[in-house]
Amino acid sequence: MITVVANLKGGSGKSTVSFNLLAWLVGQGREVKAFDLDPQRTLSDVAQVRKEDGIVPALQVAAVDRPSFDHAAQVEVIIDVGAANLEGMREAIRHADRVIVPVPPSQPDVWATQRFLKIVADARNGTEKTLEIIAFVNRADTHHAVRESDDTEAALQQLPGITVLPLRLYQRTLYRRSMSEGMAVFELWRGSKGADEFEALASALYQ
Ligand SMILES: Nc1ncnc2c1ncn2[C@@H]1O[C@H](COP(=O)(O)OP(=O)(O)OP(=O)(O)O)[C@@H](O)[C@H]1O
Ligand SMILES: [Mg+2]
Repeated sequence: MITVVANLKGGSGKSTVSFNLLAWLVGQGREVKAFDLDPQRTLSDVAQVRKEDGIVPALQVAAVDRPSFDHAAQVEVIIDVGAANLEGMREAIRHADRVIVPVPPSQPDVWATQRFLKIVADARNGTEKTLEIIAFVNRADTHHAVRESDDTEAALQQLPGITVLPLRLYQRTLYRRSMSEGMAVFELWRGSKGADEFEALASALYQ
């Protein structure tokens, strides 16, 4: 299955989600091919840090402008994209089975997601294959009195053609700290809230 992790807006958590999903899948013994299409090369850099620190399993990431799709059918493909390479993003989306869209809880992020869906529709123009678009709130506020995550989820549900997961990733230092050490959240701090919420998300996406 070809999964593209994408959104138009910077900092929504595409690379964080891509990296943790990649580590989770490889940890499950799955064969995965990961592509880093973003010239910022965040996914490639974190894989490099992981390699230098000798963390296993090692993660292979292809840093390229355009993805290739010559893999065997059973291979999971994860593609991290960035707005700085829109053509690469479009091509990845054109070939994808699904697009996973992390959305921070704010109105500008909902607007950007709306625009992003137009890019997706454009990229799919002329393709027959069905595409699943799955959005979820990333960087949700851990304080229950803050309503933005609920509002964002409700706004996303109004957008046509997308599935909104009832699962959230919360704003946690663990996401930043683990990335900087080349580790997934569930590797750095197994059993923590962050690890549990991520594993729930990954299981829902790859059940
Ligand atoms: N749930 C979270 N909790 C805390 N920090 C997070 C979370 N998700 C992402 N971050 C942090 O937010 C920043 C941006 O995340 P990330 O690089 O994954 O976003 P991106 O969408 O790939 O950005 P870009 O568009 O620049 O590629 C990083 O510092 C990352 O550690
Ligand atoms: Mg990124």
